[in-house]
Amino acid sequence: MSRENFGSKIGAILAAAGSAVGLGNVWRFPIETGENGGAAFIIVYVACIIVLGLPIMISEFLIGRYAHTNTAGAFRIASNGSPWKWVGRLGVFTGWFILCYYIVVGAWTLHYAFLSATNAFYDVDAKQYVDIFNGFVQNPWIPTVWLVCFVVFIHFVITRGVQSGIERSAKVMMPALFVITLALTVCSVSLPGASRGIEFLLKPDWSKVDSNVVLQAMGQAFYSLSLAMGCLCTYASYFDHRTPLAKSAVNVAMIDTGIAIMAGFIIFPSVFNIGMTPDDIGIGASLTFISLPNVFQQAFGNGSILAVIVSTMFYSLLFVAALTSAISLHEVATAYVSEEFAWSRKKAATLVTSTIMVLGILCSLSFGPLCSVTLFGRNIFELFDDFSGMVLLPIGGMLISIFAGWVLNRKLYHDELSNYGTLRVRYYRLLTFSLRYVAPVAIGMVFLDQLGVFDFLK
Ligand code: TRP
Repeated sequence: MSRENFGSKIGAILAAAGSAVGLGNVWRFPIETGENGGAAFIIVYVACIIVLGLPIMISEFLIGRYAHTNTAGAFRIASNGSPWKWVGRLGVFTGWFILCYYIVVGAWTLHYAFLSATNAFYDVDAKQYVDIFNGFVQNPWIPTVWLVCFVVFIHFVITRGVQSGIERSAKVMMPALFVITLALTVCSVSLPGASRGIEFLLKPDWSKVDSNVVLQAMGQAFYSLSLAMGCLCTYASYFDHRTPLAKSAVNVAMIDTGIAIMAGFIIFPSVFNIGMTPDDIGIGASLTFISLPNVFQQAFGNGSILAVIVSTMFYSLLFVAALTSAISLHEVATAYVSEEFAWSRKKAATLVTSTIMVLGILCSLSFGPLCSVTLFGRNIFELFDDFSGMVLLPIGGMLISIFAGWVLNRKLYHDELSNYGTLRVRYYRLLTFSLRYVAPVAIGMVFLDQLGVFDFLK
């Protein structure tokens, strides 16, 4: 069976950037930056990307492109069938797991885009936003309907294949995402009082940067770049032999970081404009679905056309960002099932779609009818989120860096990196050093930190 590749370099980069740019860029990065030292945090974050993120991204690219197959197969081939092949399988499993809760939030963005477009936030007072959100997520039907829509969308793109599905959708959605981000940034920074928001986001304050903040920046860098589970490895298996791996990785990281910083320019000027402080707005879901609808409504004129447009654009931005990331996660599992079990792409995608639909609905219902189903004090959604983020991803990341640094054949590594002698390889030693020593130790610390071990020791 012949295997498709991405049709162009730009298509390949946009697809990978689509995977990286996701909810994490909007609902975590800006607020983490503002609270942890502004420009100082950004510098630490960029350093994490350069020192840890890029070497791992390049390694994932290289393994995927070398093997030209799904992540599980790629690690089997690259490890000559040794037990390291399990790293690939772990990645596939992790992606499948992340997808189950990620689609729940993807579905919420659709609902909020719809509410914004129909001017449903007109004259809602600040406290009511909590009720609107809780009423929505606790409802057994409405989130489920949006979830089904979201998943059908993903399924449609995936079944169209690599070039006419993933690549073509990335070529439409990523430019749309840039345009929306830019338009929202312009609207927000031209508000009166915007400069205080910009100052909050950017003013460097090194006194806030402690070891905790560094660990937070590392964790965010990994999540934001979609590393540690073979997402980018799968996409790279569709790169052709001329795609420059290191350069593509740098491009993807720059796009991802650029969008994350711009998300800060959208959020904080509006927040300060209405006299709120960053402490009032929360992080994650409460930031996105409770504070921001209120912020936009007040900053751009309650019920005005501008408020409707800004709010609708913002949730469309989140929707597109979540969709392209979810597509990349789905592709990891679909490519795995289809190639390892020799199923047709359609049949494989249908299996993946059905499982995430069922598990996703369970996650979604865990805010309503299933809220009493808990384990370790977490509902089903939180279990999927925390188990994948705090356990599976760090383990995967650590194993991938150790594999790429210590186990993978050095000649193969160098050959792939240089596109078999046609490109000059720079910083090769630094790359290896990071993969061998820095990344495993750093990820190990993030892991222990997330499990609360350091707090415990204090
Ligand atoms: N990077 C995406 C975000 O910022 C989420 C994501 C997609 C992801 N694929 C991933 C995270 C793989 C970790 C691993 O929201």
